[in-house]
Amino acid sequence: MNNKKKENKNGNIVVMELKNITKIFESPAGESVVLKDINFKINRGDFISIVGPSGSGKTTLLNIIGVLDKPTSGEVIINGFNILSLNESEIAQMRNNLIGFIFQSFNLINRTSVRKNIEIPAIIMGMNRSLRHYRSQKLLELLEIKDKAEYKPLNLSGGQQQRVAIARALINDPTIVLADEPTGNLDTKTGKEVFNLLKMLTKKYKKTIIIVTHNQELAVETDKTIFIRDGKIEKEIIN
Ligand SMILES: Nc1ncnc2c1ncn2[C@@H]1O[C@H](COP(=O)(O)OP(=O)(O)OP(=O)(O)O)[C@@H](O)[C@H]1O
Ligand SMILES: [Mg+2]
Repeated sequence: MNNKKKENKNGNIVVMELKNITKIFESPAGESVVLKDINFKINRGDFISIVGPSGSGKTTLLNIIGVLDKPTSGEVIINGFNILSLNESEIAQMRNNLIGFIFQSFNLINRTSVRKNIEIPAIIMGMNRSLRHYRSQKLLELLEIKDKAEYKPLNLSGGQQQRVAIARALINDPTIVLADEPTGNLDTKTGKEVFNLLKMLTKKYKKTIIIVTHNQELAVETDKTIFIRDGKIEKEIIN
């Protein structure tokens, strides 16, 4: 694909574009419109926060950005492709290749080692063992959990567990990393440390990261904050 096409006038490379996204959930009580006409572009290296009241649609939006869920209408364009035109297995492959996820509750597998947890998305991708080990070792070092590689996740502190989840999100070298309240289960100091790691990844490694947070103090440290209210983008602020 021609990279020039994806470059906008500021020289930014657009990695994802959401156009007129609407999400409607059906329930016995009737339809509820959870996202309304959402439009935005994500450029390579962006560090974006999404803030908004509980129930405003942040997780729903992140799930659509992460292609875990489809919008009811609108377009999701990743690297120039309208992904909604792909079939389920193509979408799954795209997700595995391009997107890393970090969750509030870490979502680690406790019966296996930290190292194995980090390598799981690479195993799913079919990455060969030596490259997988090389990458997981580098990530264990980068995130300063090298000495915990053979531990079970439950024997780590919350902050260390979230570092494992960050390493797991990075193992396939994704285009975009999505984090839904990654500091929500951590105390203030540990949350700030985890946040600073994400910031370091955007600044030093030019990773594209989108973080949902309730914490305004953290949000202002990202490059751009998108405020969501009642399923709509209320405003976007460059910090
Ligand atoms: N699968 C679903 N079926 C029906 N309604 C849903 C579903 N998922 C989310 N919703 C509704 O969509 C709205 C937005 O939910 P969402 O989880 O996106 O909010 P949020 O902004 O992430 O909130 P929080 O800050 O509490 O995590 C809520 O009213 C929720 O009940
Ligand atoms: Mg949520």
